[in-house]
Amino acid sequence: MAYYINKCSQTRPSLENKIISLKEQKVKLSDVDKTIPISPFLKWAGGKRWLVSKYPDIFPSNCERYIEPFLGGGAVFFHFQPCKAVLADLNSELIETYKALKNDWEGVWRILNKYQNKHSVDFYYDIRSRSFNSKSEKAAQFIYLNRTCWNGLYRVNQNGQFNVPIGTKDSVIMDTDNFSYISQLLHEAELITSDFEKIIDNAKEGDFIFIDPPYTVKHNLNGFIKYNNKIFSWDDQIRLRHCSTRAVSRGVQLIITNANHQSIKELYDGLGELIEVNRASVIAGNVKDRGVCSELVIRCGIR
Ligand SMILES: C[S@@+](CC[C@H](N)C(=O)[O-])C[C@H]1O[C@@H](n2cnc3c(N)ncnc32)[C@H](O)[C@@H]1O
Repeated sequence: MAYYINKCSQTRPSLENKIISLKEQKVKLSDVDKTIPISPFLKWAGGKRWLVSKYPDIFPSNCERYIEPFLGGGAVFFHFQPCKAVLADLNSELIETYKALKNDWEGVWRILNKYQNKHSVDFYYDIRSRSFNSKSEKAAQFIYLNRTCWNGLYRVNQNGQFNVPIGTKDSVIMDTDNFSYISQLLHEAELITSDFEKIIDNAKEGDFIFIDPPYTVKHNLNGFIKYNNKIFSWDDQIRLRHCSTRAVSRGVQLIITNANHQSIKELYDGLGELIEVNRASVIAGNVKDRGVCSELVIRCGIR
């Protein structure tokens, strides 16, 4: 059975009609056949495209609002294309990029086309070192670096400056790009730069939250997948467990992903149903380190 978190259809209702219908209806998670299949526009460590395509049935069938506090590349959002969403991440450059696509996708697109023609090693390091003023230039810089840097990594130094070297890919523009549609999808979404706790604490009964934090396990901080200049600590994992518990007690539906590790199983013991899922591991730079990897999904209050 196809499963969706209310995809807004290709023939999306006019904005006015949609606002009325959203007030009247629950968001259905979602009607995939009626929407344009779309890939995330960023390559993001820990992206969950594989999860939503391999395990669509773990997601709820409907909700009032779709909330994603660890947005990253937004694979699950782009799969379901919910009409009413709150999308958040601590990475302000990432959120500003989504906002720029929402408000001026054509401006971003024009700059990326220019960058495609100029792309070279020197050009990459020149763009990496620049500090732009306009929102569309900043967003184009972010997308350009993401697509041409080493392995699509996002890493910044202590001063918050992106410091990933150039990679082997030279496609700045992709065949799958559809920024006009992405802009439309983001139209009804609230985009927020924030720590997760505030976002989860604001969820109400009937909302669905997809929670995909950086994977840190007890006694083994994962310094490699460091999305900001701050590591997601074990204390953050405990804080996440506490606010997830509060959300479940308010009647919020949750799916939490994490490492399949004893410390995580103990942390989430009693909150919901624990499911082991398998993915092909592709983040390792070295091909021999790639393989099948098991992760944990915690389903709470899913109706
Ligand atoms: C595993 S990634 C999310 C990947 C996403 N689900 C996807 O499909 O691309 C985790 C995200 O959490 C963000 N993050 C790290 N610490 C955070 C915090 N304290 N609050 C909110 N977001 C945080 C990172 O910037 C990163 O984008």
